[in-house]
Amino acid sequence: MSTIVTSTVEETAQNVAALKLHSAAEENGEPEYRYAHLLPHFSADRYPPLTPFDHVDPGHRALSHPNPRAFLDSATSIDEITPQFGTEVVGVNLAELDGAGRDQLALEVARRGLMAFRDQQDFIDRGPDFYREWGSHFGRLHIHPTSGHPTGYPEIHLVYRDLKKSFNFEYDDAVTPTVWHSDVSYELQPPGLTTFFLLAQPKSGGDTLFTSQVSTLKKLSPQFVAFLRTLKAVHSGFEQADFSRNGRRGGTIRREPVEHVHPVVRRHPVTGEEALYVNRQFTRRIVGLKREESETILKFLYDHIDKSQDNQARIRWRPNTVVLWDNRITAHSAIIDFKESGETRHGARITPQAERPIPALDGLDLSL
Ligand SMILES: [Fe+2]
Repeated sequence: MSTIVTSTVEETAQNVAALKLHSAAEENGEPEYRYAHLLPHFSADRYPPLTPFDHVDPGHRALSHPNPRAFLDSATSIDEITPQFGTEVVGVNLAELDGAGRDQLALEVARRGLMAFRDQQDFIDRGPDFYREWGSHFGRLHIHPTSGHPTGYPEIHLVYRDLKKSFNFEYDDAVTPTVWHSDVSYELQPPGLTTFFLLAQPKSGGDTLFTSQVSTLKKLSPQFVAFLRTLKAVHSGFEQADFSRNGRRGGTIRREPVEHVHPVVRRHPVTGEEALYVNRQFTRRIVGLKREESETILKFLYDHIDKSQDNQARIRWRPNTVVLWDNRITAHSAIIDFKESGETRHGARITPQAERPIPALDGLDLSL
């Protein structure tokens, strides 16, 4: 975990607005928001650059277990969302999983890409100390450089949107808010097993789209995949930081932006599966190619990701759903379609970092 170098805590205008909103609700006799303690806070803390660390993937430990799916024994239903991608589970209380169960969960998510667990109020209500302990089992917790977090818990990444304010990306200048991405892929060691849940949600809308980057890659011809394996690309956090620097999304930058070079095709450290690892939000160019070549190949790959609904799954957020995905082999996009409802969407993400992406091509030089 990063050390916080300066810990001046200043309430931004957004924090003040959120607090006012809730005291106004109380004055009006409305019940206080159950998760008010998890509303976004944009501190003025400053963090040093992240440092490399050795990641030991918990899924490895489950490989030697006699039944790596034993954690699902109590399930009352296990449904495939699509044949290749995503599983929905009812009847397993994630909060009660022991270390071996969590290892098995990591392996199963690596195999299925995406898992949705219903009826997880116990998990959600255990609160931020539990979220931190939960995520730390899977890797060093990422602290987001710009997003809001609950006061005192910078490791918990929050998404928050209501009619009065937006603490996340705004898309008024695009025809669609759909932006496929893998979270913070600009980091040297981007996240692996990621946990996300909603604390408040609109009656309908605000679903999340996911796609399998394993399946995306498999649809391409062997000759083209062989070429892609030789490529590496720059992923950049500068535009996201500029978005904040321009006063939006809380307006804070707590760690200076970075960019890193990753293989275009990465290998999962536990399953050995290959996945496409470029995304429209953070990937900027393919190293070593002429600009037009890089733009053409990336545009083709992004278009392929966009339109291949046969690789995709869509999660409807019934209350108390906890979703986990393996950020190394999947991409996702928010669906922002509930503005007119005036309802609030408030979610929390627990984001352990994983290994530096392993090139599918052994020995690929990842220097710039
Ligand atoms: Fe995301």
